[in-house]
Amino acid sequence: MYEPYDTLAFLYDDWQKSFAKPYSETVASLLRKEIRSNRIKPGKFLDLACGTGDAAILMAAEGWSVTGVDSSAGMLRRARDKTKKRKLNISFLQQRMEELDIQETFQLAGSFYDSVNHIPSKRQLQKMLKQVRKHLDAESLFMFDSNTLSCYRNLWNITSVGHEDGYTLIIENSFNESTARAASSITVFQREKEGKYSKSVARVKERWYTDEELETLLNKTGFQVMRRDPVYLFSYDEPDPYKQWWVCKAV
Ligand SMILES: C[S@@+](CC[C@H](N)C(=O)[O-])C[C@H]1O[C@@H](n2cnc3c(N)ncnc32)[C@H](O)[C@@H]1O
Repeated sequence: MYEPYDTLAFLYDDWQKSFAKPYSETVASLLRKEIRSNRIKPGKFLDLACGTGDAAILMAAEGWSVTGVDSSAGMLRRARDKTKKRKLNISFLQQRMEELDIQETFQLAGSFYDSVNHIPSKRQLQKMLKQVRKHLDAESLFMFDSNTLSCYRNLWNITSVGHEDGYTLIIENSFNESTARAASSITVFQREKEGKYSKSVARVKERWYTDEELETLLNKTGFQVMRRDPVYLFSYDEPDPYKQWWVCKAV
């Protein structure tokens, strides 16, 4: 299956650092806050669509036994390298969230940076949530973020160019509100020897889900929504929050 993040894996972390505040820092503080306020003791944590592993590594460093799942072999390779450098032990598995199949249950699960919006339809999302619920002990929390309509209207309708050390990105985004579908075509020019460049294109597709759609699917699949909070992605200058943070309980 085509995996756009295989193309983006080499620059993903660097790219995140180019934002005013890397989103992984926002996730880290929200995760810690939630764990503290719910007095959750370290157990087994499942990071769904773990990417290059920042949340998985954070949790392993804080004493959790962590499994990270992602569909991109390239992203998982980066996650494994980073984990080795930190001398941590995390199990990384190449699996799709909709087909999640690990023969164990967890006490906490998370899925961050609009990974849930990468699931292309309500049917597939229901399948994914069902699988997540199967892998959680009763009363366990599942936290994730989703992109808001404001995010798609403001960020997914623009073309931008980024010049970083060693590569240039051309990002062409589009969003069709009537179908709730968003697409990002990311052309990467990577500098090679003697001023030459290689070119590759990653095509990422997302689906905007309304709060009602998400809540209905969560309720259908054995989750109770405890809270949903607005999250500002880059700064407080955002007209509206671009993300929503969901805290759900497995019931
Ligand atoms: C925007 S990245 C987020 C990565 C990471 N969670 C983070 O916070 O940086 C989205 C990730 O979702 C993964 N992904 C997309 N669809 C997936 C699916 N159906 N199952 C598993 N992983 C998926 C991609 O490979 C990519 O690593």
